[in-house]
Amino acid sequence: MGKIENLALPEIGSHALGTGKLPVEQYVSQEFFELEKEHIFRKSWLLVGRESDVKVPGDYQNFMVDTLGVSVVIARGKDQKLRAFYNACTHRGARLVNASTGNVRALVCNFHGWSFNLEGDLINVPDAALFADLDQKQEHLKPIHLDVWGGFIFINLAEKPEWTLREYLKPLDDKFDRYLGNKDWSWSFGWRAKFKANWKLIVDAQIEGYHVDMTHRKTIAGAIPGSNTAAYYFPESIGVPCGVAAYRPEDVSRGMQTPMNLLSAKYGATSIYTKPERQFAAEGGEGVLKEDHPLWIFDNYLVFPNIVLFVQKGQILIQRTLPISADECIWEVDFYHTERPTSFGHVFNMEQGVIQIRDVLSEDLYTAEGIHANFKCGAISHVSLNKQEVPLRAYYNRLLSAIEQDQAKEKP
Ligand code: FES
Ligand SMILES: [Fe+2]
Repeated sequence: MGKIENLALPEIGSHALGTGKLPVEQYVSQEFFELEKEHIFRKSWLLVGRESDVKVPGDYQNFMVDTLGVSVVIARGKDQKLRAFYNACTHRGARLVNASTGNVRALVCNFHGWSFNLEGDLINVPDAALFADLDQKQEHLKPIHLDVWGGFIFINLAEKPEWTLREYLKPLDDKFDRYLGNKDWSWSFGWRAKFKANWKLIVDAQIEGYHVDMTHRKTIAGAIPGSNTAAYYFPESIGVPCGVAAYRPEDVSRGMQTPMNLLSAKYGATSIYTKPERQFAAEGGEGVLKEDHPLWIFDNYLVFPNIVLFVQKGQILIQRTLPISADECIWEVDFYHTERPTSFGHVFNMEQGVIQIRDVLSEDLYTAEGIHANFKCGAISHVSLNKQEVPLRAYYNRLLSAIEQDQAKEKP
């Protein structure tokens, strides 16, 4: 813990990226959505899962990129290597796997029985002599670029990705990779929901602290006042345009603390707003976590285009938003911890934390559908952003530049 003189908080934001209002077309325009599909979702590194969920040879995961209608199989081969393929049999295009996870010796198509090994090679064709000139070597499953960072699996659907994953994720560096890649992290809980709102409205709700005092007035506003959230923006970064840091108030008794909160807080720290008497362990946080600041709670980073990664001691969570159309999206959140509850008090603390964070996320997301409807019907054409909302401006700038730069590359 730091000393008392370290209590000064960083600036909460900046006007460095400009002060003008932003248009809202990018949230409702079908044409803009088509550009996002082709120039962003088909070209960016997309976080699709956790390496530990595909642990042993034969384990596979089936991930749906709903935005593009692409079903991806991620499988660990006998050589321990992870590979990603389109979930498409090269005979006549049937899906090879339908379950979301499993363990198999080979990927066998249910239509006519073609079999592929975990490296994607076609290894068996029933009645192969029926084909006139089948060259089995040419019938390899179509591969997708895959890499791992921080224990998270990323894929890239481009024929040739423009950047390596590490280049893409700067300024998140190797220390981050090691901290998040710690093998002790395991999935604890999560949720999935559909919203009738543009996908970026869900992201926006997580990357500014200005809303906290009002939106979360019944839950965390006392424990994390809006004035204690600082905005990050990284104009040079390709894949991490912005983020937010959150700090406690000096007076930790502030805020709405129910008897249940206070009791729970005696047994552990599962949430971002209970004052922990006891910290979860998590090795390798040096240079990643701002633990030398006594008031620091968490940092989050927008991993472009659709992930908000929250990092703290002993707890990480990711929020992923996948558009289905300009007007509809799927949102998922997953929590990972380095410790399992070992006592009744600890289980109670964890359960109470789950309920609290569910309430906080509901508060965050309930405005999205109304905002979307207001943008769509023309009631609102532009929005104002203050300096604490600078991450939204950084995100908008990155959206436009990602599309423009990719369009420019495609020009002859
Ligand atoms: S489509 Fe897969 S074996 Fe025919
Ligand atoms: Fe919030």
